Amino acid sequence: MAGISPAWVCAIAALLVGQVVSYIDNSTGQVIVPGASSYNGLNLVPQMGWDNWNAFQCNVNESLLLNTAQAMVDYGLRDLGYQYIVLDDCWSIGRNSSGYLVENPEKFPHGMKYIADKLHGMGMKFGMYSSAGIFTCGRFPGSLGYEQKDADLWASWDVDYLKYDNCFNQGQSGTPQLSFNRYNAMSQALNKTGRSILYSLCNWGDDNPFDWAYTISNSGRMSGDVYDSFNRPDSRCPCTESIGCAWPGFHCSIMNILNKMAAIQSRTMSGYFNDMDMLEVGNGGQTDSEYVVHFSMWAMNASPLLIGTNVLTLSPANLAIYSNPAVIALNQDPSASAAVRKWQYFVNPDETGQGEIALWTRSLDNGDQVIALLNAGNTSMTMNATLNDIFLDPRTAGAYQAPPQLSEMWDVYDLWANRMSDNEAASIINGTSMNLTSNSNSTVTRYNATATSYAEGLKNNDMALFGAKVGSIPPMGTWSAMIERHSVGLYRLRQQPSGLRKRDEL
Ligand code: GAL
Repeated sequence: MAGISPAWVCAIAALLVGQVVSYIDNSTGQVIVPGASSYNGLNLVPQMGWDNWNAFQCNVNESLLLNTAQAMVDYGLRDLGYQYIVLDDCWSIGRNSSGYLVENPEKFPHGMKYIADKLHGMGMKFGMYSSAGIFTCGRFPGSLGYEQKDADLWASWDVDYLKYDNCFNQGQSGTPQLSFNRYNAMSQALNKTGRSILYSLCNWGDDNPFDWAYTISNSGRMSGDVYDSFNRPDSRCPCTESIGCAWPGFHCSIMNILNKMAAIQSRTMSGYFNDMDMLEVGNGGQTDSEYVVHFSMWAMNASPLLIGTNVLTLSPANLAIYSNPAVIALNQDPSASAAVRKWQYFVNPDETGQGEIALWTRSLDNGDQVIALLNAGNTSMTMNATLNDIFLDPRTAGAYQAPPQLSEMWDVYDLWANRMSDNEAASIINGTSMNLTSNSNSTVTRYNATATSYAEGLKNNDMALFGAKVGSIPPMGTWSAMIERHSVGLYRLRQQPSGLRKRDEL
């Protein structure tokens, strides 16, 4: 074994038993995921940040961006991983005589480089928006035909991220090849700048980007625009499946977008994430438990987590949702995989005519399993997850052999059990509790991913990343829980150490 480090031996052994395990390169501190690919080396786990669109649309300016960034630093959101401040549509006024985009001087009096410098000074990163069309969706100039010029300009401003929309594309869509070519032009242009710029496609799932975009970009929207509704159908969002959706539309509910993920989960990978769109938590259209479902299921499916509300007026309850480190660690898991919907049943509909219960599961890098018992029906009910359902995939892989997981004992950790109290969140917002150690709960309610990455924290069994133990599942057993209407039970299952298991059996 000369020349092979212990970490590699571990990783290879894990691969042989069919489990992908990450390790940390001691010389660079970087998390290495064997087999991970990113076309530009960026985004091995989903991007996190804030985007102004859901809450402000075109009503943006320099102070909104900088004040939001400062609040994110103050509220601990930056250190939870929310690093990108993404300026959406409506920032430019046209092109100058040399063909370069010009920012709106009233909204951005000091120019864009100034904003980038300020953000970088705060430890944040700067995201920019354009469209692979002649106009943006808000009818400002688009980048079609100007890819290199625009990429060069953004690089000269020290931009770190591009959200690239799909409006006014001159009919250059309708086949995956047409869309690929149009989006690839910008991918190549960004590469040529020599600057690391995360490339986030926003073509709403048009022409199935999940089948071709992972070699040219870091994330791709897989649905029409989200709106702040839990499950109300809207005829402007006609598709219920992502495959073959000819008209992605907009006004897509949380449940509509979630269910579109079920078929394409295998197309989520390290370096390329299916983007379920920006988070609506805080915008007022859903109940607290519905927002918990929204945040949980975006985390489960390794969607980018972009806060889409006004951070400056965030309520304590909504800060507590955005700040749950155990759920963010699920999103940022080095497995970079999405969840599998193991079953879905249609049940008593609510006032929107919708009602379903579902079991979603996800295998994590360290062998833990996460299960989401989702009740989107109208009444509370007891829901069951059997080990047989949770481990359906190993049960059905190849010639049947009972997978070892079925005869294990699993400890169950509720990932929302340590949700920060409203009092603690309020003390963060009003600036009386900035210190991680000033609150007795802080070791489980808060986390600093700038200091210790989630991958490292998970390896160290940091208590903040595991929720609280609420029970266990015996071999061949079932986890049962009462789940309220429009709620989710989100649990991390951890294999009991064998010593402990033996004692239990005595
Ligand atoms: C949409 C996009 C939204 C937002 C908007 C701006 O196409 O999906 O997220 O960027 O354009 O006009």
